[in-house]
Amino acid sequence: MIQRPRRNRSTPAVRALAAETHLGPEHLVLPAFVQPGVGVSTPIASMPGHARVSVDLLIETCQRAVDLGIAGVALFPVVDDEVKDSRGTHAVDPENINLVAVRALKRALPDFMVICDVALDPYSSDGHDGVLIDGRIVNDETVPLLAAMAVAQAEAGADVVAPSDMMDGRIGAIRAALDTAGHSDVLISSYCAKYASAFYGPFREALDSSPRGGDKKTYQMDPANRREALRELRLDESEGADWVMVKPGLPYLDVISLFRDHTSLPVAAYQVSGEYAMLKAAGANGWIDYDACLLESLTSLRRAGADVIFTYGALEAAELLS
Ligand code: PBG
Repeated sequence: MIQRPRRNRSTPAVRALAAETHLGPEHLVLPAFVQPGVGVSTPIASMPGHARVSVDLLIETCQRAVDLGIAGVALFPVVDDEVKDSRGTHAVDPENINLVAVRALKRALPDFMVICDVALDPYSSDGHDGVLIDGRIVNDETVPLLAAMAVAQAEAGADVVAPSDMMDGRIGAIRAALDTAGHSDVLISSYCAKYASAFYGPFREALDSSPRGGDKKTYQMDPANRREALRELRLDESEGADWVMVKPGLPYLDVISLFRDHTSLPVAAYQVSGEYAMLKAAGANGWIDYDACLLESLTSLRRAGADVIFTYGALEAAELLS
């Protein structure tokens, strides 16, 4: 037999040099939930290992992430119901927990990348990413609010703003607002192909941010669609996105691969809360080897074409890789 592919799998040294994909902590972003208070940590039942934490504990976690070589943190604030309104006004209050956390993190760990989510849902009394009027999410009224929110995050010190709202035209509006405010160095990581997915369930439990009525299907993409993702990609590129994200991760490897083939921008993938919950639940039952499946799923996201991966398993993966 002339062709024996197994020869290239025969020893660890041969496998290592034949490996086509590399996964390292520098590819990972840790999503984290922050709430007001001091020394407070409220576990999230469907996301074992993750909690809503106060800023002091968040800084400790991020210090660990820095020590492990993780690329950055993506912050998600837990907001009190009393300050939520239909326009998400609290999103631009400099004293909101998100902006307080950004300032504290940049003071404590100036070189660690802080990524802020741009969408109204944590601050919205309707639990939607945009403004709801007469049962409709109104695009053009929402976009300036998102732009103002991104500017507030940049002022607080965010390195990257990540619009996850899926309104039309928001990347261009946010870029213009950032530049006008003197923040031309701040990156935009666009949630470019963000699908209306059931895999976001645990995240919405963590933030108590489920839509109070209806769903997100008039703005997030239909899981049935792939060509439409290319349309979003072209628009976000032309509007000035720096990274283009596909979300969720593992169920959408084909879309990640499509992006890899059609853009020269870095591609991000978000291994979302429901994906993490599945791995954790099966691992806890002894049905799968959690550590091995985590690394395999992250390697697969890299193989499909992701440069950066947002994953709740970032700390665990970085530890396993070190
Ligand atoms: C908010 C937002 C969501 C996620 C990230 N940003 C939820 C949603 O769109 O409902 C989901 C993340 C996850 O499930 O881990 N716009």
